[in-house]
Amino acid sequence: MTRHFLQLTDLSPAEALAVVHRASALRAQPDPGYRPFVGKTLAMIFSKNSTRTRVSFESGMARFGGHALFLHSGVTQLGRDEPIADTARVLSRMCSAIMIRNDSQADQAEMAAYSRVPVINGLSDLHHPCQLLADMQTWIEHRGTIAGRTAAWIGDGNNVCHSFIQAATLFGFTLRIATPVGYEPKTDLVAAAGAAVQICSSAADAAAGADLVVTDTWTSMGQEAETQRRLRDFANYQVDAALMRRAAPDALFMHCLPAHRGEEVAAEVIDGPQSVIFDEAENRLWAQMALLEFLLAA
Ligand code: CP
Ligand code: NVA
Repeated sequence: MTRHFLQLTDLSPAEALAVVHRASALRAQPDPGYRPFVGKTLAMIFSKNSTRTRVSFESGMARFGGHALFLHSGVTQLGRDEPIADTARVLSRMCSAIMIRNDSQADQAEMAAYSRVPVINGLSDLHHPCQLLADMQTWIEHRGTIAGRTAAWIGDGNNVCHSFIQAATLFGFTLRIATPVGYEPKTDLVAAAGAAVQICSSAADAAAGADLVVTDTWTSMGQEAETQRRLRDFANYQVDAALMRRAAPDALFMHCLPAHRGEEVAAEVIDGPQSVIFDEAENRLWAQMALLEFLLAA
């Protein structure tokens, strides 16, 4: 059966850990002679901007001997209302896998329903699972085992937060979440995570003693009209040095990027010694190579 990766829990805990360990092995010992994807192609559909996701998938396919097609919806027939179901059936007869970055998780599910080949979520309004593979790889590479540890999510209960919630259940850590009122993560995802997720009433409470502190932009793609209101609403949710001092002394700081210094994170934190943001960014490459290898072998 074709395996898709539309949310993190499309992998079992053992599969997720295996993909992350494989990613670390690929990173530790890159082998230019290992080219399992010769003759294979990845269709990459983007209806939103991207730097890391596009470049990591495209570079990963090239490193494995395959090829990636950058298909911005503005220059394909998808942008002229060709149905998703037809697009899926056409692309999956020509390509080995499909990656899609768009707004709608439901549209991604429809793409997967009509595709013969794996469909990968490169970000939707609801999830960003590829980011979490890279983040878990990074956390494990820096700190070893992460089961039983505690992460603090500070800021918007958005797509990356939702994937962090699922990561907590898969990788066995506790996630404490602090958001302003009205910006909480989806209640069904929080409920599904059970005791792995705790909702806190302040950033200080969430960060207390945490092994990892994470944030993301206050204004995600598509929310630009809300920027001024969000700047006001999130004013007490900046990750600054004082907040980091509440975390464990060896706590790491993560951010999926792109970041806004002086908004969700102070420059002294994101550019400071606890920050591992560029390992996270690099690991998008290795984690997605491991993911593609897993999905195309399945
Ligand atoms: N973190 C992330 O997905 O970055 P891009 O938007 O640049 O792809
Ligand atoms: N939450 C952000 C993540 C960008 C990688 C967004 O959706 O724009």
